[in-house]
Amino acid sequence: MLLLLLLTNAFVLLPWAGAGRITGGREAVAHSRPYMAFLKIKNATKTSRCGGFLIRPDAVLSAAHCVYNKGIVKVTVILGAHNISRKEPSQQKISVVKRFIHPEYSGKDGKNDIVLLKLKKKAKINEYVQNISFAKENEHVRAGDLCTVSGWGRTSLYPPPSDVLMEVELKVQKAKICQQFFRNYQPQSMICVGDENRKKSPQRGDSGGPLVCNKKAHGIVSRGIKLRFFPELFTRISHFEPWIHEKLRSFAIQDIPGSPSSK
Ligand SMILES: *[C@@H]1O[C@H](CO)[C@@H](O)[C@H](O)[C@H]1NC(C)=O
Ligand SMILES: *[C@@H]1O[C@H](CO)[C@@H](O)[C@H](O)[C@H]1NC(C)=O
Repeated sequence: MLLLLLLTNAFVLLPWAGAGRITGGREAVAHSRPYMAFLKIKNATKTSRCGGFLIRPDAVLSAAHCVYNKGIVKVTVILGAHNISRKEPSQQKISVVKRFIHPEYSGKDGKNDIVLLKLKKKAKINEYVQNISFAKENEHVRAGDLCTVSGWGRTSLYPPPSDVLMEVELKVQKAKICQQFFRNYQPQSMICVGDENRKKSPQRGDSGGPLVCNKKAHGIVSRGIKLRFFPELFTRISHFEPWIHEKLRSFAIQDIPGSPSSK
């Protein structure tokens, strides 16, 4: 797992000019992160991938930029996976029936990069598939805290992405570091993260995955900068906690037969 992430209009990822392969990431112990979700995102011509994480048996959090494109026809979540190229018996494949993209998400500046995905049915909770708790409104990480990020993104700047789940440890950085690099950095809704030695970083395909600090999801992989390993910008989950709970409550309402949005 590596380097930069995403692609927004503002920060297009270009091949890194340095050495080939990032050294910081390692393969996760299989099924040691049972909250991890692999997102398969299909449009008319292509399938792309992102990360996500289970916060309730019927709900996955991810990054809005992963599923924002109008052309997307189907999003599927795979839970309980380690090697995504295999059909592992532990895997549960569940369709997404609704995407709650944050109403103030903007593809232009990447603010409010969060989406709540409603699953077609509840995941079966077991040894391989478990939801993770996420930061409450008053729970914050501090500069210097060590957290981990995991994903099936690229392990270098070049394809292919990883078949097995990779993980990397990263440090929470002071807001002013991200303010130097990202014009629109907002400390209240974003977390500045990275490895000062520029050896470890999320990479394309890791977007949407969780930043886990002290066993809680605090951030969502959102953005990096072209040609750099440092810093990266994560969505700050605590800021969005009230919104997440409001949307989770609305799941139940939609499930009442005959309600306008029930399927
Ligand atoms: C499908 O996705 C690819 C990248 O994932 C993109 O380049 C292409 O424009 C998309 N096509 C449509 C019809 O949205
Ligand atoms: C998992 O989801 C259930 C159902 O919403 C909830 O009761 C439980 O607290 C969650 N577990 C964690 C670790 O968040």
